[in-house]
Amino acid sequence: MSVWNSGSASGGGASSKVTIPSLVAQKAQGHKISAVTAYDVSAGRLADEAGLDVVLVGDSLAMTMLGHENTLSVTMDEMLMLTRAVRRGVKRALLVADMPYGSYQMDEGDGVKNALRFIKEAGAEAVKLEGGRARAELVRRLVEAEIPVMGHIGLTPQAVNRMGGYKVQARTQEAVEKIQEDAHLLSGAGCFAVVLEGIPREVAAQLTAELTVPTIGIGAGPECDGQILVWHDLLGINAGGAKFVRRFAEVGSVVREALEQYRVEVEAGTFPNDAESYHLPRAVRPLAGAF
Ligand code: KIV
Repeated sequence: MSVWNSGSASGGGASSKVTIPSLVAQKAQGHKISAVTAYDVSAGRLADEAGLDVVLVGDSLAMTMLGHENTLSVTMDEMLMLTRAVRRGVKRALLVADMPYGSYQMDEGDGVKNALRFIKEAGAEAVKLEGGRARAELVRRLVEAEIPVMGHIGLTPQAVNRMGGYKVQARTQEAVEKIQEDAHLLSGAGCFAVVLEGIPREVAAQLTAELTVPTIGIGAGPECDGQILVWHDLLGINAGGAKFVRRFAEVGSVVREALEQYRVEVEAGTFPNDAESYHLPRAVRPLAGAF
């Protein structure tokens, strides 16, 4: 079998595999990019079946799945395990793995080694990392190692301690100039897309117009080339949520009501009923006489 048989060299359309070139082409075609986080096989499968372009195994799983207060403590092993799980569900979408805090900040060699693990051991097709100027050299090294990189600037949750909380960024002239410089450095270093999180709509619109690579917004307004939301926010699994979150369903209430109904029926003895039970074969029916 030739390697040319897998992965499409041309084409397009809703059912063809999303690739780095096809995503970049979407920007040129004005075709918005849809992205969502996922943390397990069924979430990956559902996102894929719904036709999402990008599935990100975000380090937000530290909070949404593992119950931590922020994203800082999630480890490479935890991220790898859940990336493998999502990989089993995703066929068409581009699968991106988030590099956890501490896996790329120490030195670039470590960053390349850890990114390679996501590609080789977990089947990710790209990695995402946070930061601007300070990451440009690492991005260059990763791209040289054939690892596609998604940048992430603005409100970067791994910098929660420096930012003093989750606050909208780029609200002063100086900060706007800094984020512009960061965005151009990341794109120049070879990022195939840049996540813009928690910045004013006007700033995101300008960056989107200036960059040749797609911008993926989260709390950055509608002018971005694409949007990403966290699974639990989009589906209304947890209470609350930031201003930019739209809950496209109330899955938390649906699940809670189903669990309450299940408990009530177990307590009342109405679950399981006879149709939900197995029976002895006729030949051994005497034993079943009591029923
Ligand atoms: O970890 C995450 O879920 C993210 C997205 C929200 C962009 O970084």
